[in-house]
Amino acid sequence: MHVVALVTQKGGSGKSTLAVGLAVAAMARGERVALVEADAQGTISKWRERRENLHPRVERVDEPAEIEQILSRLEAEGVWLAIIDTAATDNALAARAIASADLCLIPARPSPADIEAAIPTLIAIRRLDRRFGFILNQTPTRGCRLSEAATSLNSLGLLALPFIGQRNDHQDALGAGLGVTEFAPEGKASEEIVALWGWISERLIMESNDHGQAALKTAC
Ligand SMILES: Nc1ncnc2c1ncn2[C@@H]1O[C@H](COP(=O)(O)OP(=O)(O)OP(=O)(O)O)[C@@H](O)[C@H]1O
Ligand SMILES: [Mg+2]
Repeated sequence: MHVVALVTQKGGSGKSTLAVGLAVAAMARGERVALVEADAQGTISKWRERRENLHPRVERVDEPAEIEQILSRLEAEGVWLAIIDTAATDNALAARAIASADLCLIPARPSPADIEAAIPTLIAIRRLDRRFGFILNQTPTRGCRLSEAATSLNSLGLLALPFIGQRNDHQDALGAGLGVTEFAPEGKASEEIVALWGWISERLIMESNDHGQAALKTAC
């Protein structure tokens, strides 16, 4: 099972919106997906209450130790992808989510201040030696020029692609209990989320191949 965590201490950067959008996009590709909500704010649970489809399943965790228990259970039940949504605080739950993740995704608005606000999260990720990528979210839909901070991230290969534009479909989908790919399948927001899921899944598969080869070398 692959584990992805949406993390950053910066509030309102799009963690929950992207977690939901990506989970539904992955599910549409035939993957068995679960959302793990590690945020007492409950954005995902509230979205789930508005949703008619029982999938993706949503598991709520309140204590750090519960994360590993839930992930083990999901894996045993054949879930292929778990996406963890975390709170905008540097709490033990977020730290455990980072430690459990194969890939940490850090959403940030494209401004330097927003990118800089993610630095404490980045330090935690580096300390735990996790893979990560920034997602530029809520970018202007026209003429998005990259700030110096975003350009540096891009040149270091640390930016997930594509950028996710500021589009009402994301907010409306969340309100309707849908993923954006269900809400407006032909829309630009949907197209971007599908492409972003493609970028993420490539990294997850690459990483599991690396692990497989490392295990093979150890066995030899
Ligand atoms: N790409 C986008 N386009 C338009 N609106 C967006 C986009 N991404 C997020 N939003 C909106 O921005 C607001 C904050 O998003 P969201 O709740 O996902 O952030 P968050 O990081 O989970 O916040 P918190 O830190 O409070 O948990 C929500 O109203 C959401 O619908
Ligand atoms: Mg949230």
